[in-house]
Amino acid sequence: MKNQEQEPRDAVSPHGQVPKEETKRIFLTGATGFLGTVLLCDLLKRGHTVTALVRAQKGLSAGDRLKNRLLDYDPEFPWDQFSERNLFAVEGDTTQLFFGIGKRLYDEYAASTDVVIHNAACTALETDWKSLEAINIGGTREAIEFASHTHAKALVHVSSAYVAGERTGVVREDELLMTEGFRNGYERSKAIAENEVRDAAASGRIRFLIVRPSIIVGDSRSGYMCPNHHFFDLIFRLLTIRRMIRDKTDDGRFRIPGDPNATKNFIPVDYVAKLISLLLETDEAWGKAFHLTDPAPIRLEMLNLYVRTALDWPDLVWCPKEDIKELSLLERRFFRSIKIYEKYFWQEAFFDQSQLKSVLGVRLPVFDQMSQETVDRMVKFIQAKYAGRDTARKQRSARKKDGKISTVQPLCA
Ligand SMILES: NC(=O)c1ccc[n+]([C@@H]2O[C@H](COP(=O)([O-])OP(=O)(O)OC[C@H]3O[C@@H](n4cnc5c(N)ncnc54)[C@H](OP(=O)(O)O)[C@@H]3O)[C@@H](O)[C@H]2O)c1
Repeated sequence: MKNQEQEPRDAVSPHGQVPKEETKRIFLTGATGFLGTVLLCDLLKRGHTVTALVRAQKGLSAGDRLKNRLLDYDPEFPWDQFSERNLFAVEGDTTQLFFGIGKRLYDEYAASTDVVIHNAACTALETDWKSLEAINIGGTREAIEFASHTHAKALVHVSSAYVAGERTGVVREDELLMTEGFRNGYERSKAIAENEVRDAAASGRIRFLIVRPSIIVGDSRSGYMCPNHHFFDLIFRLLTIRRMIRDKTDDGRFRIPGDPNATKNFIPVDYVAKLISLLLETDEAWGKAFHLTDPAPIRLEMLNLYVRTALDWPDLVWCPKEDIKELSLLERRFFRSIKIYEKYFWQEAFFDQSQLKSVLGVRLPVFDQMSQETVDRMVKFIQAKYAGRDTARKQRSARKKDGKISTVQPLCA
């Protein structure tokens, strides 16, 4: 699937250092998440200084949480080189007044910040509206407030291509229409949050740079993904069901409702991180929004081909809506388990990238589009995590049998 004009994959990977006088002091939210970890890594390697706002977790300091995440992503990450020199962790919560860190510390951080990157969000697609509203909308309001207290008032807001909701056709980066409805509360909350950022900029409180990634997938070198991530979850569920039915197929087919001709827009996490770093370092990018998306999105038919090859499952097929009532018990059970993703299997808009191309020009890096190679890499990564989870579960039950205490290790600390 690699585009002929594209340079080799390494075009994405080197971390260009920014000249010292151009490095920035960045305040980042959501650094322990899937994108946040990779973005943090990229920003540090480019020479920026980052203060990360990290939620409390029982038994772990904010610094320990960051360290665990960075080393989980990159076991070679030079933690000692950055910690307390270019990287600072502060325990807080975006939904709280002054981020829950107290006014004095809040003012100190605001005074020493050049750019705020608001990346934290609740990414559960169909969770209760109260949580989505508090974290995605309320949290964004707090990030706007914080940015408005900094000297440059510069806020990078991580939005989503899916603020377009159920729109079809071409969606431009400079528009945010909320007229066509949304697939879920997550999309709606992200659209309202982006609107708040645009309003705050229009009234002169802040300057914005909005990035709208499509579906973020595994790192283009390691396949790294977080287990709470949607694509990880989907493949993980497919792997599980594949193992269950490997030798027990009846008519062989395993159907998932979806349109093979629909496109799906995926983007590797390291590419998104790299683009955010590049954009925030570019003066002309401020005041604009950007689709961080694949300009040639894959069709579901091709995706299925890559997935069934990676899973050695030749009979995995998409089926039309009319077939839903004919699904076998197992197919129906599986379908129910992935129902939150089903709305993404029929159609999507085309995300125009005119602004991105115009602002970055020849500096726009190339990336690995979805291919057999990238899907294989991600599946292998998930299988390795899966094996880890299996082993941990076996160890726990063995310890329980021995009467020893069991400590649950998170899959992605
Ligand atoms: N993943 C995608 O496919 C995708 C696509 C388009 C846009 N995006 C956007 O990209 C951003 C990152 O997504 P992601 O997939 O990396 O998300 P993620 O893995 O779910 O991580 C979310 C991050 O936000 C933090 N967070 C949540 N609530 C918080 C609060 N109240 N206070 C402080 N931190 C809080 C989480 O902290 P904990 O570790 O404490 O939970 C975590 O660090 C989000 O804005 C998302 O909407 C994601």
